[in-house]
Amino acid sequence: NVPIVRAVADLRTIVAGWRREAASIAVVPTMGALHEGHLSLVRAALEKADRVIVTLFVNPKQFNSAADLAAYPRTEVEDAAKLAPLGAHLLYAPDAAEIYPEGFATAVSVGGVSEGLCGAFRPGHFDGVATVVAKLFLQTGADLAFFGEKDFQQLHVVRRMARDLDIPITVIGCPTVREEDGLALSSRNVRLSLAERLAAPKLASILHTAAGQIANGAPVSLTLAEARAAILSAGYREVEYLELRADADLRPLNALYCPARLLVAAWLGNTRLIDNVEVVPL
Ligand code: PAJ
Repeated sequence: NVPIVRAVADLRTIVAGWRREAASIAVVPTMGALHEGHLSLVRAALEKADRVIVTLFVNPKQFNSAADLAAYPRTEVEDAAKLAPLGAHLLYAPDAAEIYPEGFATAVSVGGVSEGLCGAFRPGHFDGVATVVAKLFLQTGADLAFFGEKDFQQLHVVRRMARDLDIPITVIGCPTVREEDGLALSSRNVRLSLAERLAAPKLASILHTAAGQIANGAPVSLTLAEARAAILSAGYREVEYLELRADADLRPLNALYCPARLLVAAWLGNTRLIDNVEVVPL
């Protein structure tokens, strides 16, 4: 079984012991409800580091609605059971007061890469993410951190934050894990009705098609307009954004002159889904 630690003082004691053994340490931050996407990060971390800490904290500061926070799945016992066979060394599931003690008054706010895309539709979300991830980096003192490309903007925000604050950690991005029908794994997929679950993978296939067209030289704005219409025809209620951005720094692109990402957020009923794919110039 994977040991579970709830206090930062205990975490630091264990990490200090590993440091005396000169072990390298990786952290995989999560909000639990672990699925194959999370587990792929744990496996990647185990390949690169001697010790792997998985963190589980449902961070209230990054939620935009109390209802979304309340509905967020909490499955710690099952999560711990999934980690044990992989060989993860520690599950850090801090008490809320270890992250936000009485009187907590600090926020980490990243500019630039956090603007637009999800940042435009989820006010304060990336401040909440940057604040908790900065704390998790400092509490664990890990050398490496693993994040999914599924949350591509988040990956950029976290990288920027660690660089800007001189936190000595290397942030590694890992590819999106998908269902067989192409739907990106997400803890929120369990909220989809059967009919929604059947419609959901069309988002990924439309994204994939549009990325292929753009890579082959199709005009960006026309291709995106068609893809937007296709997403709505597929049963999605609203497209928040569908944009081509530079892979390296997320700057907006109106033509494909460098490696790029096509990023989308759309609502299927009451569930907001995000996805992104690489677009490589030929
Ligand atoms: P959570 O949504 O639990 O995701 C934890 C990590 O798993 C993130 O790095 C996310 O990008 C990655 N992930 C989720 N679905 C994935 C998939 N289908 N394929 C690959 N990786 C996937 O992201 C968060 O939690 C929080 O914002 C957090 C960083 C923990 C801060 O609270």
